[in-house]
Amino acid sequence: NVNFFEQPDEKHVSIQASDGENLMRVAVSNGVGGVVGECGGEMSCATCHVFVHESWSGRLPPASADEIDLLETSDAYDSERSRLSCQIELREELDGIDIYVAPEN
Ligand code: FES
Repeated sequence: NVNFFEQPDEKHVSIQASDGENLMRVAVSNGVGGVVGECGGEMSCATCHVFVHESWSGRLPPASADEIDLLETSDAYDSERSRLSCQIELREELDGIDIYVAPEN
């Protein structure tokens, strides 16, 4: 399960996802508000920007330099919590992860 908190009012949506699925694709195919994924995961749009709750961010593989470069172009960038959801692959140990959609997507 992935817990999304949508913009603009942090409405909670819980979505069942499988091991190996891409977080951005899970959000887009389930219509999570505010996750667009315009570039299709090519790391060129940042419309998949999300905040990963602090208690989970340490369990993810670290962001690449390219991912950080693109995130830094966002006004809402938060070095502790910002990630591009298209760069996150869901794994069993991430079950229950809390994902907050970033405001400007
Ligand atoms: Fe474009 Fe993630 S979908 S950067």
